Amino acid sequence: STRDFHLDPSAHLIVVSNRLPVTIKADASQPGGYSFTLSSGGLVSALSGCKKSMSFTWIGWPGLNVSSRAEEEFIEKKLREEYSCEPVWIDDDVADAHYNGFSNSILWPLFHYHPGEMNFDEENWLAYREANLLFAEKVRSVVKQGDMVWVQDYHLMLLPLMLRTLIEGSNLQGHTSHRELEHVRHGVDGTSHLQGSEGLAAPKKEPTNKSSRITQSGEGIGTSDGAASRGAIKIGFFLHTPFPSSEIYRILPVRREILLGILHCDLIGFHTYDYARHFLSSCTRILGLPTMPNGAEFEGRYVHVGTYPIGIEPTQFEEGLRRESVQTRIKALERKFEGVKIIVGVDRLDYIKGVPQKLHALETFLQDHPEWIGKVVLVQVAVPSRQDVEEYQNLRAIVNEAVGRINGRFGTVESMPIHFLHRSVNFDELCALYAISDACLVTSTRDGMNLVSYEYIACQKEKHGVMILSEFAGAAQSLNGSLIVNPWDKFAVADAIHEALTMPSEAKQKNFGKLSAYVEKHTASWWGVSFVSDLTRIKVATGSSSPA
Ligand code: ADP
Ligand code: G6P
Repeated sequence: STRDFHLDPSAHLIVVSNRLPVTIKADASQPGGYSFTLSSGGLVSALSGCKKSMSFTWIGWPGLNVSSRAEEEFIEKKLREEYSCEPVWIDDDVADAHYNGFSNSILWPLFHYHPGEMNFDEENWLAYREANLLFAEKVRSVVKQGDMVWVQDYHLMLLPLMLRTLIEGSNLQGHTSHRELEHVRHGVDGTSHLQGSEGLAAPKKEPTNKSSRITQSGEGIGTSDGAASRGAIKIGFFLHTPFPSSEIYRILPVRREILLGILHCDLIGFHTYDYARHFLSSCTRILGLPTMPNGAEFEGRYVHVGTYPIGIEPTQFEEGLRRESVQTRIKALERKFEGVKIIVGVDRLDYIKGVPQKLHALETFLQDHPEWIGKVVLVQVAVPSRQDVEEYQNLRAIVNEAVGRINGRFGTVESMPIHFLHRSVNFDELCALYAISDACLVTSTRDGMNLVSYEYIACQKEKHGVMILSEFAGAAQSLNGSLIVNPWDKFAVADAIHEALTMPSEAKQKNFGKLSAYVEKHTASWWGVSFVSDLTRIKVATGSSSPA
């Protein structure tokens, strides 16, 4: 599609995400005692397009705590001056309960249709609110009238509401009751979360209470009473995970609070049309809001909802493949695997990635096609992830067991069917691995998008390898030319493996042409610019937020 983008070079963009794009580590050999490394990929490349035409600040959790204010100041100065970043300092116990407890033990499993793994408890919810409030206070300290704030992902779903309250002094009429506001406001007040929740489809009508505003501290862009006028800032939110069906979403004990949290945005984005639709039907069913396919009416404003499928920067991979060291590595790997077909898998070791399903499908394939034993290997790299959460520890044991069993069953003195690396590999190695593989296998049982599939395609200009992709990954909506599979059907996945390994080169070339055209066009920076451009264009009715 051809869209014309509107970025306003005079506007300032504030991006807020749980993690900062810079990894900070204690390192005695560095000046100041810390090393700083800019992350590559993901959001960093996605924002490269906006960065060219707008100024921006990035706010996030630095992922560590230091022992003195002097050290904090050192890190703040370095982040501000060299990376345009502002850290949000969070005490370890709050950070743990926010990240491991609420974000990754409640929202993450529920949004990926794993309610069985959901572990709701009051403490974690309080910490989630408290951490969101710390982010809100940091945003308030840097935001100026006319800025745009773009909030990222499930760790920060209360932030838009808190920003409207803190910055614009919105007195949150109608659907947001005084009690609910109190509820998000006091991070650690011990109020039962149940007080703010109630049945389906019954919007609350409680008198609003002016004292519910939390604008007293009067910093930032506030007016005399500490509040700026309504519409002083534009707020966008993007969810990088799926938004589940309302039938799953409504399991969440704080379903109202989380919806209200993001409804205070001007624009809410999802990867796919289905996620947007699920969100809107949750708004109707849980809050009774009038919705349209592209938004919802909420407290006198129209909240725009859109789909913005993220991508990668394919040129990074193309440049990687041109490096001599990578070419040397490719040749070495090709010699090692001569006469053997390679299937590659690259995942964070997360239960949503369907790694056990992938292994069972390979087992089924080798059982049904013994002629392939010794002639095909699965190279599976699995980065350890969120290891403080119990479900991730359990998964590790399950995967280790399956790898051992399948290698024991089909391995020979010369070769093993599965090469399992429980670690991350560096960018050059990743490029080489993608490039030499005949197929890539993604079997996520749910996945917001899945960028590994895009990365594989970007590295297959010569080989035209086959992409086998779960229908439950957001990418399946875009990557036409893949073999789409149901990861729960091991026979179907085994058939797809067979089809991939035996596909004639004309068919591979044809599929690859479609895949590559999509990946080259729908890049990460295209995603960032489309979202920010739409946020820029939205007209917001301004005026006093506090009718007497
Ligand atoms: P998610 O965001 O859920 O982890 P994606 O597939 O969208 O899933 O993105 C994963 C990113 O992490 C990709 O850029 C991928 O290259 C990288 N990655 C995943 N596993 C590894 C690994 N073992 N080594 C190096 N990078 C990895
Ligand atoms: C997903 C989430 C991101 C998250 C990433 C890695 O892509 O949507 O917000 O950063 O996984 O997970 P981690 O817990 O290591 O940040």
